[in-house]
Amino acid sequence: RADLKATILEMNRLAAKYFYVQLKNERGFHAYRYLKDRQLSDEMILAFGLGYSNPYSDDLYKYLRGKGYSEELIRKAGLINTDERQGVYDKFWNRVMFPIMDVNNRVIGFGGRVMGDGKPKYLNSPETVVFDKSRNLYGLNRARTSRKPYFLLCEGYMDVISLHQAGFTNAVASLGTALTAGHASLIKRYVKEVYLTYDSDDAGTRAALRAVPILREAGISAKVIRMDPYKDPDEFIKNLGAEEYEKRIQAARNGFMFSLEMLEREFDMNSPEGKTEFFREVSRRLLTFEDELERNNYIEAVATAYRISRDSLDKMVAKTAVSAG
Ligand code: UTP
Ligand code: MN
Ligand code: MN
Ligand code: MN
Ligand code: MN
Repeated sequence: RADLKATILEMNRLAAKYFYVQLKNERGFHAYRYLKDRQLSDEMILAFGLGYSNPYSDDLYKYLRGKGYSEELIRKAGLINTDERQGVYDKFWNRVMFPIMDVNNRVIGFGGRVMGDGKPKYLNSPETVVFDKSRNLYGLNRARTSRKPYFLLCEGYMDVISLHQAGFTNAVASLGTALTAGHASLIKRYVKEVYLTYDSDDAGTRAALRAVPILREAGISAKVIRMDPYKDPDEFIKNLGAEEYEKRIQAARNGFMFSLEMLEREFDMNSPEGKTEFFREVSRRLLTFEDELERNNYIEAVATAYRISRDSLDKMVAKTAVSAG
């Protein structure tokens, strides 16, 4: 089993190098152009090991077979599929390739982006014996040596690379999945604070709302960065630049307070009944802070932000605690 892991890592490394060489030769020129149009520097392309998978259905398969690996091993690496009509074919073809590395710079899988509007936009390696999506973060191999005491947690491969290119070398992303407790404990080994910089659409907002408590349970405090009017950090930086992004970092909102702002939308804040219901729900959420000092600090923050008396909020929290048993 240890052997299998080592062999798969070796194949992945060879595949990544192969994709990189293809990107740099004539066949990959349009893929290289694509990355250039997206304003990536050669330095970043090399640093992240970006590449190109050829448009032939068994190109990588033949290459790896030629290196002596069996069909079974290549399948276990998640690099090929088989179906009855086509037989064996490469999982990735005609895509810009993003090797996914673990903290030790080992290639554990790939993401491949279609150039244009095809579906799926990104195809990812399946989980294998070396690739557990819920325990790895894209960009962590580089972010771990950044000196910042926090990570910028974003959604996508391109966000991570754009941020690194702009000097934010503490950016990481989860791998096309929602943030898990596994990710949070991995992050906790390096930093105690995370700035969420997800997409500004509904999906991104919902993902941020789910990430805040997951991080908190791991003992990581979360802040939320606003990306509007742009879609994601990649587009934000391209349009407004690193300095404006830095300002957004400085203006990031506390994760819990952000979740209350989103909660407001579910209540009629203009009616006394709606407002009361809102504060009941806020009280329930305040009770999830087990540390008394922390809870009191949040009660204080809520009372101040919503301009209600500290005393009546205290009483409501106490009452909610009783009725919750
Ligand atoms: P987005 O749809 O926000 O794409 O997905 P993006 O990162 O902004 O990509 P560009 O800028 O159009 O190239 C965010 C992340 O979700 C995962 C990928 O990890 C992607 O980076 N994803 C997205 C997939 O795994 N598959 C998909 O089809 C789409
Ligand atoms: Mn998993
Ligand atoms: Mn998105
Ligand atoms: Mn994007
Ligand atoms: Mn995006």
